Amino acid sequence: MSSISIPPTHPAVASLAPRAPLAIVNQPTLPPGPGQIQVHVTWTSSTPLDLHVADGGLLVKPEDYPFLMGGSYGGTVVAVGPPPSDGSQARNLQPGDQVFGFVPPGCGDPCFQTYINVSSFTASPLPPNLTLQEAVTVSANLVTVFQAARTSLDLEVKWPVEAGWQPHQASAPILIWGAASSVGLYAVQVFRHQGYRNVIAVASEKHHETLRALGATACFDYRQRDVVDKILAHLPAKEGSDGPKVPYILDCIASREETLRPLTRIAERGTRVGILLPVINVHATRDRAPEYEMDVEKAFPGGWKEEVRLRGTRANFYHHDKDFRDHLQPEWVPAMLQQGIVHPNKQRVVEGQTLRERAQNALDILRDRGISGEKLVWRVADSDN
Ligand SMILES: NC(=O)c1ccc[n+]([C@@H]2O[C@H](COP(=O)([O-])OP(=O)(O)OC[C@H]3O[C@@H](n4cnc5c(N)ncnc54)[C@H](OP(=O)(O)O)[C@@H]3O)[C@@H](O)[C@H]2O)c1
Repeated sequence: MSSISIPPTHPAVASLAPRAPLAIVNQPTLPPGPGQIQVHVTWTSSTPLDLHVADGGLLVKPEDYPFLMGGSYGGTVVAVGPPPSDGSQARNLQPGDQVFGFVPPGCGDPCFQTYINVSSFTASPLPPNLTLQEAVTVSANLVTVFQAARTSLDLEVKWPVEAGWQPHQASAPILIWGAASSVGLYAVQVFRHQGYRNVIAVASEKHHETLRALGATACFDYRQRDVVDKILAHLPAKEGSDGPKVPYILDCIASREETLRPLTRIAERGTRVGILLPVINVHATRDRAPEYEMDVEKAFPGGWKEEVRLRGTRANFYHHDKDFRDHLQPEWVPAMLQQGIVHPNKQRVVEGQTLRERAQNALDILRDRGISGEKLVWRVADSDN
């Protein structure tokens, strides 16, 4: 059983305005509602979305400030609410259980606070071979990969994957641009496990060995000027079919100039291009506010060949798929980790004297584009109890 005594109020990290320093606001600690669990949050991870929100005010209305932040949690269940009333399954979680998860808006509290109430379908029980520090690298971006595969690329993904299973498009090339990003690393592992045998990875050369070990069949370095020519030369000539050479592209970076522009040369009629929103028109820097585009059709007008199928991926809606809602985080994610099918990202622990400092330091690293093949993780509560 958990020995944590729950305080009446607790600290939460908030954005007060675009580009303002992060702040701490005090929140009431309310009991969990139907279908919710209450979690004492000890670890979280930062994601580029935090920067999009804090510096760009992405999807934040003026009346939403102070805007509480954070999408992923790792911690201990301290209370369990009444059974769900939204049709989701009751979960067998108890106070004292260690859990981690990704919380889309509307499914619970933002996670950069020491206590949260979240829908129990967002919780993955911590497998015995993992720490919470490792686990918080996983949920948001592994969920993103499943969402992108099913809703943006129309690729079959399922659980369990029986030995010998072959999806319909098993040998079709799938190009993952930004394969060393957190999402990209999970994408390579998931596609291999789901039976896709032709995963082409685009990442800095230093990551190629790792990516091959995880399942990439070919790797290209986006820093080389002729990377697009090299990718095109690698693809087999079309034989008889008028389908595209690369039917599936996942853009894990979604930068107008750095990734969309080169991809317009690769995508052809019929290529499905999944783009992890937002499209970044201008990256945030210390001197410059970022600019984003949420409509993939407007991101590069006139730049794509005819009938390229552009789809923006948004993990925030993954739970609209009932199969994902009921099974992805409660069952598939922990099983994939326990069975070693998916390995957590490398972690960089962000230090700081206070909760606010750690959140701010992580944000500054994201703004400086200081991440390569790793995930920023940090303590939320100062201690486990
Ligand atoms: N809409 C959604 O549901 C959703 C969900 C998750 C993420 N996202 C978005 O997806 C993006 C990636 O998120 P993340 O957490 O995976 O990012 P991340 O791990 O922080 O990305 C860092 C990586 O980006 C790679 N990179 C940077 N510029 C690149 C380029 N031009 N070409 C190829 N790789 C490049 C770097 O690779 P090297 O080390 O090889 O240089 C680095 O390892 C973010 O913009 C995020 O907001 C959206």
